[in-house]
Amino acid sequence: MSITTVVGTAIKTASVLLGVGIGKITIIPVLIAALAYFNYDLMDPENHPRVTKQLRKEYDFVVIGGGSAGSVLANRLTENPNWNVLLLEAGGHETEITDVPILSLYLHKSKLDWKYRTQPQDTACQAMIDKRCCWTRGKVLGGSSVLNTLLYIRGNRRDFDEWKSFGNPGWGYEDVLPYFKKSQDQRNPYLARNTRYHGTGGYLTVQNSPYVTPLGVAFLQAGEEMGYDICDINGEQQTGFAFFQFTMRRGARCSTAKAFVRPIQLRKNFHLSLWSHVTRVLIDPQSRKTYGVEFIRDGRKEVVSVKKEVILSAGAINSPQLLMLSGVGPYVHLKELGIPVIEDSPGVGQNLQDHIAVGGLVFPIDYKISIVMNRMVNINSALRYAITEDGPLTSSIGLEAVGFISTKYANQTDDWPDIEFMLTSSSTNSDGGSHIKNAHCLTDDFYNEIFSKINNQDVFGVFPMMLRPKSRGYIRLKSKKPLDVPLLYHNYLTHPHDVAVLREGVKAAIAFGETNSMKRFGSRFHSKPLPNCKHIPLYTDEYWNCVVRQYTMTIYHMSGTAKMGPSDDPMAVVNPELRVYGVEGLRVIDASIMPTITSGNINAPVIMIAEKGADMIKERWM
Ligand SMILES: Cc1cc2nc3c(=O)[nH]c(=O)nc-3n(C[C@H](O)[C@H](O)[C@H](O)COP(=O)(O)OP(=O)(O)OC[C@H]3O[C@@H](n4cnc5c(N)ncnc54)[C@H](O)[C@@H]3O)c2cc1C
Ligand SMILES: *[C@@H]1O[C@H](CO)[C@@H](O)[C@H](O)[C@H]1NC(C)=O
Repeated sequence: MSITTVVGTAIKTASVLLGVGIGKITIIPVLIAALAYFNYDLMDPENHPRVTKQLRKEYDFVVIGGGSAGSVLANRLTENPNWNVLLLEAGGHETEITDVPILSLYLHKSKLDWKYRTQPQDTACQAMIDKRCCWTRGKVLGGSSVLNTLLYIRGNRRDFDEWKSFGNPGWGYEDVLPYFKKSQDQRNPYLARNTRYHGTGGYLTVQNSPYVTPLGVAFLQAGEEMGYDICDINGEQQTGFAFFQFTMRRGARCSTAKAFVRPIQLRKNFHLSLWSHVTRVLIDPQSRKTYGVEFIRDGRKEVVSVKKEVILSAGAINSPQLLMLSGVGPYVHLKELGIPVIEDSPGVGQNLQDHIAVGGLVFPIDYKISIVMNRMVNINSALRYAITEDGPLTSSIGLEAVGFISTKYANQTDDWPDIEFMLTSSSTNSDGGSHIKNAHCLTDDFYNEIFSKINNQDVFGVFPMMLRPKSRGYIRLKSKKPLDVPLLYHNYLTHPHDVAVLREGVKAAIAFGETNSMKRFGSRFHSKPLPNCKHIPLYTDEYWNCVVRQYTMTIYHMSGTAKMGPSDDPMAVVNPELRVYGVEGLRVIDASIMPTITSGNINAPVIMIAEKGADMIKERWM
């Protein structure tokens, strides 16, 4: 790294911190230096990809949505120089803030977020404003991989074997493993040696966090104390504890835009159009052939034609929305809204799955070792981040270790855990109520009653996340207007199994806080009774059943809304090649196609789906 780069990055980071209102340095020199840095930035070979001003009238392929999946597709399809590919993305570029792992909370509700909110329901999210959960989604090149917390988790081998058993040949674990490895550049030398499970040299950089607190090691020891192994949870055995791995490159976020789109910006057959909001896929009602895409750019409606295929990668909310707007969806619903039906596909927008955890399980400790935002985010840490690419700013808000555990509802002799512990050296109180509260949409009353007394105190957090929910939500259109926000029904905790598993997860989290390994730090459960549950005898099952419905935290894993399945499954929207039933030349390739959600955070599986999808497209046309 040259000295200009170092100084440039330091200045850039410092000005970012100033921009978001943290750090205390004089503004003038920083601005001057930031301007000087701007010139340097223009020459950076890893800079934001160029936007194509003059589009063609026709492309071989049009990819809708440049998120986790769409970025991969743009890259892999342009590998064939004879194919012209257009990527349409509603959002713009990544920013300096999106690069800094600890600042991901600042991205919720920003202009990079679609800012979705679910319909109010009384089964969950009762501590949130208007009882509506906030569903952050990325509206930016790189999609939700630009806003996420960078965790790299593949899921359980049985998830994929189950997909196959539903009638989806080619989707079993052994079939998909090569696609996980294909993307991957595993930077942990110990893991990289295990070539059965890990790949090196791929576009997506995966590494350990350069910054760990003493709590990180203790989390693993506590896991061992509870009888679990420490293992590579993306390898041979999932049940157990491990340090998280992150989609991170030299301490900065490695979004799919950075990994897959920046390197291909000079390919002549690749066109990129940002700030381009797709409103409809054009399908001929007679021949049922897809012939184009309609979108709004600079306030004007535009149309491009497509020769081979349109690929919908707009994510689990917008892909089904666009299918319905284009006439593919449940017949009665489309008729009601006055949308001409091209294909009656009852599964579109149904089968909505997500992972939820219980927020606010906080354990105060006696040592100043955890992530407290106002202590970590300052000019010293900015300089350290810029110069050595490590330090507290590389911490993904304290996410340090993961535990895959089995409650009494899981098969104990099997390696298919039903709860994931996300173990953090921070929690909801760690920024004094400035951003986390808003990101999670907690009411002021709830936040103040539960957290104000421990604002900015040293704590750790355990987020028990339920891996295989049985409840299913759904998505509907509000009207046939493409810019109307769709109606989102989470249906969280409507199945009694889900309440039971999550409750056992909470109990296990509290037991975790009681281990000797955590007690060493003075760990004690912040047991403040929740406002809506105080009337129930404390710490009974009934009490916990109430608790899980209050601070119900989405982990932002919406999926399943255009599921893959065999032709005899009426709810299947796409076939095992991800082609939309009843329509020619249209595929869905993103989180929507999961028949069941995978047992872990889903970004890596979505990238795998796109890698495999790209290969299937190549097979079809080469
Ligand atoms: C806050 C947050 C934290 C998360 N943390 C993690 C984590 O740590 N680890 C993990 O594995 N997963 C995490 N996830 C989940 C993971 O990032 C997503 O599941 C994944 O990125 C989804 O990929 P996708 O391609 O299906 O959709 P997205 O990545 O959301 O991409 C969809 C793209 O389509 C664009 N688009 C939508 N509609 C239109 C339209 N009409 N016209 C044009 N473009 C459109 C969007 O702007 C977006 O860029 C997190 C998600 C969020 C939001
Ligand atoms: C539990 O898992 C084991 C190992 O995979 C399997 O043999 C057994 O049938 C499972 N039990 C139940 C009740 O599903």
